[in-house]
Amino acid sequence: MSLKVLQDSSDLIEITLNGVQKKIIYPDTEFECFSVPLFVGVNDIHIIASKGNSKVYETSISVFRRSELSSEYTSPPPGFSKNYFHMEDRSICTPCHTLKPGMFDRKPVDISAFPQKNLKDEIKNAAATSTCYSCHKALTAFPFVHGTSSVWSCLSCHEPGAFPKYSVSKPDARMCYTCHIKQKEKWEARKYFHGPFTTGKCAICHNPHASDYPFNLMKSTWDLCVSCHIEKGSGRHILERYMIGSGTLFHPTRGVLDPLREGKELTCASCHNSHSSDSPKLWRLNVGSGFALCKKCHTG
Ligand code: HEC
Ligand code: HEC
Ligand code: HEC
Ligand code: HEC
Ligand code: HEC
Ligand code: HEC
Ligand code: HEC
Ligand code: HEC
Repeated sequence: MSLKVLQDSSDLIEITLNGVQKKIIYPDTEFECFSVPLFVGVNDIHIIASKGNSKVYETSISVFRRSELSSEYTSPPPGFSKNYFHMEDRSICTPCHTLKPGMFDRKPVDISAFPQKNLKDEIKNAAATSTCYSCHKALTAFPFVHGTSSVWSCLSCHEPGAFPKYSVSKPDARMCYTCHIKQKEKWEARKYFHGPFTTGKCAICHNPHASDYPFNLMKSTWDLCVSCHIEKGSGRHILERYMIGSGTLFHPTRGVLDPLREGKELTCASCHNSHSSDSPKLWRLNVGSGFALCKKCHTG
């Protein structure tokens, strides 16, 4: 969205998101660019330019951010339509930004060499050469950045020749496995598969760019699992079948340390594999029964 403000007609531009102020601009250059992070669901963005105490210009837009993790947000309410930035003429931006991708936007990524290298300089250089960085820098501004995105090899996944432009081939798994070959071999050789894994929807759980959580997960592990398995968040899980009659005992699924993974919190992933497993109920630790699973942690 954009708002045209005639020179000297305004001394303050305010941007609000769902009624909350997100940014203030004191106009002093010809062009002011900003980005606002969106919430899942409807986002009402409002720009108001004012002089003194009176509004001189305003504009607003409603943007819907979808998420497959919540049935409420899988599809937009009536009235929203898709709007692709890169499908339209954007020559108004090109005096200052480059929109034509280059070879360096498709840097080869060597997954086996990745963790060993000191990436600091490489990441800085990668950001500096990236065509996409100047507009999309907010995408990687999180503590856990996915390897490919950290070096701004955006075209490893986004095809300029695709329709719509830059769309990513589906299912995700096919694209993810072009690099994660080891995982593909290991996971597909197992006996039992997790629902969303079977449908190849890796990006339902992993953000391909970056996130606040380890493994670039969309939410913390517990919140992620419970967004689909709501009933497992009740505290009744685990003991309800294995200790009949113990109606008052609850088994923790978070908030305590995992005895088997040093320094990590106990979560759903302490007992279950998110992708596939050789054990029923997707148990980790290669156990044949729930009781054998208990004994891995409760040795007494
Ligand atoms: C007159 C030059 C100029 C024009 C024209 C221009 N930009 Fe920018 N834009 C900039 C500069 C300079 C920055 C970097 C600002 C900074 O780093 O604080 C920027 C940053 C951005 C950002 C990142 C903002 C952020 O905070 O993450 C976005 C998004 C953006 N521009 C989009 C656009 C779009 C879309 C257009 C065309 C509609 C456009 N710009 C036209 C100069 C321009
Ligand atoms: C001039 C600024 C600018 C540059 C440069 C830019 N983008 Fe965008 N891009 C945008 C804006 C604005 C949007 C719409 C808001 C959003 O989705 O973040 C967008 C949206 C997208 C989308 C969502 C689909 C769409 O068309 O709306 C993809 C994918 C994308 N950009 C990829 C890229 C890649 C890859 C590069 C580098 C080769 C790139 N962009 C460079 C501004 C830019
Ligand atoms: C590992 C593959 C991968 C890499 C690398 C990658 N993306 Fe994406 N990107 C995706 C997927 C998957 C989606 C979701 C598309 C969908 O499901 O419609 C997406 C969506 C987007 C979107 C639109 C929605 C959103 O999340 O904001 C933008 C913009 C975008 N990518 C820009 C970039 C830029 C810029 C880079 C370079 C840092 C990049 N991507 C690197 C896979 C990737
Ligand atoms: C172009 C190559 C490439 C593609 C495509 C790719 N990745 Fe990655 N991925 C990497 C690299 C490189 C790393 C960093 C490896 C490391 O740190 O061990 C990584 C790391 C990860 C990690 C973190 C691993 C860890 O142990 O911390 C996850 C999770 C991940 N990728 C998921 C995905 C998903 C999901 C997709 C598809 C949406 C995908 N990747 C597509 C190259 C890729
Ligand atoms: C239901 C959610 C979910 C789905 C779907 C999913 N993952 Fe994961 N993934 C996780 C969680 C949770 C972890 C961290 C597990 C842990 O804490 O040990 C993880 C860890 C990873 C890792 C790092 C650890 C490792 O074993 O190498 C990679 C790489 C990865 N996932 C890639 C993928 C790919 C590729 C797909 C699609 C084929 C996918 N994931 C689908 C939830 C998911
Ligand atoms: C996007 C929704 C979604 C998310 C997120 C999700 N699951 Fe699932 N899960 C499913 C579906 C769908 C099934 C298959 C249901 C069925 O077969 O009845 C399933 C099945 C399971 C099963 C039962 C397998 C069996 O053989 O009975 C376990 C265990 C499980 N999930 C654990 C997890 C864990 C742990 C997480 C978090 C890392 C998680 N799930 C996240 C959708 C999800
Ligand atoms: C301490 C180990 C442990 C933890 C932690 C754990 N589970 Fe389980 N899970 C089990 C056992 C044991 C079973 C088999 C129970 C049964 O047969 O009723 C099971 C079964 C399941 C099933 C299969 C559904 C069914 O009723 O057959 C799902 C889905 C599931 N767990 C999800 C989760 C989620 C989501 C979390 C995190 C909130 C979680 N689990 C945490 C041990 C665990
Ligand atoms: C991954 C490790 C792990 C597995 C597997 C596991 N537990 Fe636990 N369990 C824990 C931890 C950690 C606690 C909390 C201990 C504490 O609070 O000090 C706990 C606590 C308990 C408690 C005490 C609850 C209370 O309110 O005091 C019972 C009973 C229990 N577990 C039974 C089981 C049973 C039955 C199984 C198998 C179905 C099982 N556990 C599997 C780690 C595990």
